[in-house]
Amino acid sequence: MLGSFAKLERILPSHQPTFTTTLSSSTYRPNTPNNPLYLSLRLCDMETTNVLLASSGANVPRVETGKNPTLICVPVMAESVEKMVVDIYKAKASGADLVEIRLDSLTGFSPRGDIEALIRECPLPTLFTYRFGSIQSLSRIIEFLLYCIGSKMGSLSVNYLYDNTKLGRWSYDGDENERLDVLRLAMDLGADYIDVELQVAREFNNSIYGKKPEKCKVIVSSHNYQMTPSVEDLGNLVAKIQATGADIVKIATTALDITDVARIFQITVHSQVPIIGLVMGERGLISRILCAKFGGFLTFGTLESGIVSAPGQPTINDLLNLYNFRQLGPDTKVFGIIGKPVSHSKSPILYNEAFKSVGFNGVYVHLLVDDVAKFLQTYSSCDFAGFSCTIPHKEAAVKCSDEVDPVAKSIGAVNCIIRRESDGKLFGYNTDYVGAISAIEDGLRAKHNLSSSGSSPLAGKLFVVIGAGGAGKALAYGAKEKGARVVIANRTYDRARELADTIGADALSLADLGNFHPEDDMILANTTSIGMQPKIDETPVSKHALRYYSLVFDAVYTPKITRLLREAEESGATIVSGLEMFIGQAYEQFERFTGLPGMMNHPRNYFGKPCQSTDKVRLVKILYMQQIMFSFVIQIISTLLGVFLL
Ligand SMILES: NC(=O)c1ccc[n+]([C@@H]2O[C@H](COP(=O)([O-])OP(=O)(O)OC[C@H]3O[C@@H](n4cnc5c(N)ncnc54)[C@H](OP(=O)(O)O)[C@@H]3O)[C@@H](O)[C@H]2O)c1
Repeated sequence: MLGSFAKLERILPSHQPTFTTTLSSSTYRPNTPNNPLYLSLRLCDMETTNVLLASSGANVPRVETGKNPTLICVPVMAESVEKMVVDIYKAKASGADLVEIRLDSLTGFSPRGDIEALIRECPLPTLFTYRFGSIQSLSRIIEFLLYCIGSKMGSLSVNYLYDNTKLGRWSYDGDENERLDVLRLAMDLGADYIDVELQVAREFNNSIYGKKPEKCKVIVSSHNYQMTPSVEDLGNLVAKIQATGADIVKIATTALDITDVARIFQITVHSQVPIIGLVMGERGLISRILCAKFGGFLTFGTLESGIVSAPGQPTINDLLNLYNFRQLGPDTKVFGIIGKPVSHSKSPILYNEAFKSVGFNGVYVHLLVDDVAKFLQTYSSCDFAGFSCTIPHKEAAVKCSDEVDPVAKSIGAVNCIIRRESDGKLFGYNTDYVGAISAIEDGLRAKHNLSSSGSSPLAGKLFVVIGAGGAGKALAYGAKEKGARVVIANRTYDRARELADTIGADALSLADLGNFHPEDDMILANTTSIGMQPKIDETPVSKHALRYYSLVFDAVYTPKITRLLREAEESGATIVSGLEMFIGQAYEQFERFTGLPGMMNHPRNYFGKPCQSTDKVRLVKILYMQQIMFSFVIQIISTLLGVFLL
């Protein structure tokens, strides 16, 4: 399909990662005999030796439910024991391994009776947490306001508000000794885990020395709501936590940049003790998923989206069903979509489903990236095997790739980066044009009953591209590549001329397109947004002119059948929808990510049945609508919060 790609080596995953770079899961071996956590952990590349300190946590039990031993813990916050029990059962039904019971959320809390009831009723292991201090102080509100004014309104600020105001209202504000007494009581009554903050951990652990039941493990936690410290400082922090007598170390930091998470992975993968290393905020999301690959003790998954106990927590449903959490392991390859914003992208649904359906050991995640070069330099291990790039990083991705496909270079945009396993080199591609051109070729072959082998049915055809933007460039280059004679018609003639001169094509003003009729059986590709919702009555060219075209393509895919396509069909042309382009580029990336044949040509699609284009179209339509709804709801919430707070 891609003659010009012959120079670029295909990436064939061997499932035997090379470990030439600093961040890799290679040193983590979860299933070592006798000691599932520590024995084969190797300390290397560390700036501190402090994490070698022995810990009483060596015997912390783990239930292995999949390819990794990392547990999923659902935080339960409710105002009554009854409501908590309902949520605990929901957590069990969702597949949780344990629940974190937030005692500070209970109103009218009666320690002995409530804890006894919760332990008695709970069908899962329990982690008791009793946070102190009212967070709803003036300084935190000012902090939140500044955060919002910093134009970061959106899902992250919604999470932030939840975390700070709701927990603020709930968190314990009484006597510190009484609070620690409650945790001691939970331990005596049969808690499996209790969470104690680093600030009070030494005193607390001294007080229970010799009295702690074998079954109960103490998690000593440190939270940094401002940033993520250096690896050295994190190492020292681990040592400090261990020195308090912790069974399990918990470090939660804040991601100012997605590269901050790498330091937590580095600490986690090299840790000699059970460690929970999580990074809060949307930029830290991967810490909550990939901890299963890097050997984290547990992650938190919420019952409902938005009801979080810390910013950036995914739902347990997403962990299990979207990211296939149980199947992640040290050898799992990481892929993702690099963008900003990116949380709306449904690509993880598409690719993770596709990986699962063919048994490929990979996971595809959202990557909220501010600086693509810094991101690629930091995550330089071959474990991070491939990326999709979206707005605003497609141009920057060209510069960051060691080698760029000639067409992507000409277009000036890379939307797919593959890291070669043998030497870590990055290869940039543009699959946008592949998706569109192959969909048009398929349409022509079906129309003329041609086989898919042999030369492109576009060779020698007159191919008219409406538009000279990103999609226009991709289509024009792609058609030229296939041997078509290309004409660019654009509203701004100068842009059409410039593109035409660059690729060796002709240029037209869009106003002249209606009278353009040098020959019959031409191909027309609209790459402008004309006709897109909500302006669905618009069309870039009159119906009268469409009779000279044998095939008409529209990059717009909302609606699926635009006015242009409807009128083209009525004029006797074959039509190809923008949905085919979207699906086509995704399949092309899948092929590059996995080294497996593209799903388009694969006998089965990710629904596990023969590939039906109607299924694909339906799926994309649903995903697109979900995306629009999601953005709409977030916008309303953000506006309301803004009005309320300011
Ligand atoms: N199906 C897919 O997978 C897929 C992928 C990528 C893009 N797309 C769609 O393709 C469309 C273009 O995207 P893009 O990234 O190429 O955008 P872009 O870079 O902003 O380019 C837009 C082009 O459309 C022209 N244009 C815009 N409004 C126009 C109007 N009212 N009348 C005439 N011409 C108009 C512009 O002409 P001037 O030069 O005169 O401004 C320019 O040539 C969008 O609708 C996008 O959703 C679809």
